[in-house]
Amino acid sequence: MAPLKVTKICCIGAGYVGGPTCAVIALKCPHIQVTIVDLNKARIDAWNSPDFALPIYEPGLVEVVRQARGRNLFFSTDVDKGIEEADLIFVSVNTPTKKSGVGAGFAADLNYVELATRRIATVATSSKIVVEKSTVPCRTAESMRTILEANSRPNCRFDILSNPEFLAEGTAIADLFSPDRVLIGSLQTQEGIDACESLKQVYANWVPPHSHCRPLVFRAVQLAANAMLAQRISSVNALSALCEATGANIDEVAHAIGYDSRIGPKFLKASVGFGGSCFQKDILNLVYLSESCHLPEVAAYWRQVVEMNEYQKRRFSKRVVDTLFNTITGKRIAVLGFAFKADTGDTRESAAITLIRDFQSEKALVNIYDPQVSHEQIWTDLQEASPLAPLNTIKKQVTICKSAIEACKDAEAVVIATEWKEFKDIDWEAVYASMNKPAFVFDGRLLIDADKLRKIGFTVTTIGRPSSTLV
Ligand SMILES: NC(=O)c1ccc[n+]([C@@H]2O[C@H](COP(=O)([O-])OP(=O)(O)OC[C@H]3O[C@@H](n4cnc5c(N)ncnc54)[C@H](O)[C@@H]3O)[C@@H](O)[C@H]2O)c1
Repeated sequence: MAPLKVTKICCIGAGYVGGPTCAVIALKCPHIQVTIVDLNKARIDAWNSPDFALPIYEPGLVEVVRQARGRNLFFSTDVDKGIEEADLIFVSVNTPTKKSGVGAGFAADLNYVELATRRIATVATSSKIVVEKSTVPCRTAESMRTILEANSRPNCRFDILSNPEFLAEGTAIADLFSPDRVLIGSLQTQEGIDACESLKQVYANWVPPHSHCRPLVFRAVQLAANAMLAQRISSVNALSALCEATGANIDEVAHAIGYDSRIGPKFLKASVGFGGSCFQKDILNLVYLSESCHLPEVAAYWRQVVEMNEYQKRRFSKRVVDTLFNTITGKRIAVLGFAFKADTGDTRESAAITLIRDFQSEKALVNIYDPQVSHEQIWTDLQEASPLAPLNTIKKQVTICKSAIEACKDAEAVVIATEWKEFKDIDWEAVYASMNKPAFVFDGRLLIDADKLRKIGFTVTTIGRPSSTLV
């Protein structure tokens, strides 16, 4: 039998991965009907909002949704209908780190994947290709197959594919338009290879044919890729601490290192720490996998990457306190940026949350401004970071502002926590005039022109550079 020609796709999970990925598939494959389903009604309503106030921010995403929505792209809370109609289903649900039970704090919580899989088995009345897109440990596809086969109706066959997503938030649309690689894993049976071919044909509408069918064990590639990226950030951040102590400049060091073609220049920017939904979670997953395989040294090695990231955030908060004459009690600190990186509204594991919690515990007053993150999200994150403090108490210490200029007014210090381009272009003279003196700036993202700000009168502290104003 020839591989199935896919005409209807359903994506379970309308989040940061499912939403952009399947919107791009719909755009590039106008002959395929794509329905993205989610149990979260507020999220689906936002995807369907008449003014395109989408639930996530990604440069270029609105334009994609504008072109495809209502044509061959649909968003719905009717999960069952989406499953029933589709011939190919992406499972793109969340896989957070487990909070309790075996592997708590390390292993991935596969409950959402399992529930979605069970739903497919219950609802499907015809054969489906089921594509695991969530980041899951090796052998999850086998569990999915067992669940599907044990619960399916007669004459329904399920072919499971693994198709990890490598997009980075902030550049998701560009990444999806021209991916570095598309990996598709399948069983090496004729049915598995055919299912893989069907998915390849979907991507072939815009991606050059360099995807390969692989045995399902290659799943570890994604954990490994994210671990290597995060390790690179922690390595450069570890060097930034050394630079601060020895009088070197991390930007220059990184630049010089990047000239080595074996290393390359990308992902060598020191910062206040990595965040996002993937890096920490995937490394902890790798730690868990290593421990399960009785490889404690390997587990300790990868755990250290996360510990270095925590250290970097702690170190930065401490530097703020030390510089402000060892106390920030009652002092106003403006935190510019709340998202975990620029060009996204995602705040998961954002370094800003840790910094603000540290400032709160030092009894500072904190003004926050972010161009994309909703006020509601900020309050939710701050509440989660300090579960023992009632929201009213947090609100006495923290103010969310409508602009960077407003956030900096009457502040003693400005902390740049996210590298939004607009922070580079603020009217820093006006900011200086509105602040208490001496006015401090702490650049956690190597974003601003420190010399220019020093000429205005600021005392500037930059990550990876010594505190002396001469450097
Ligand atoms: N965010 C990234 O940059 C990124 C990149 C690559 C891979 N991943 C992986 O992709 C997966 C999804 O990540 P995300 O950032 O999109 O998560 P997310 O939390 O933004 O979205 C997941 C969505 O799935 C929905 N959902 C959960 N169970 C469901 C069910 N049974 N039926 C219907 N909807 C359900 C949730 O309501 C939520 O809206 C994760 O495994 C993640 O590790 C994420």
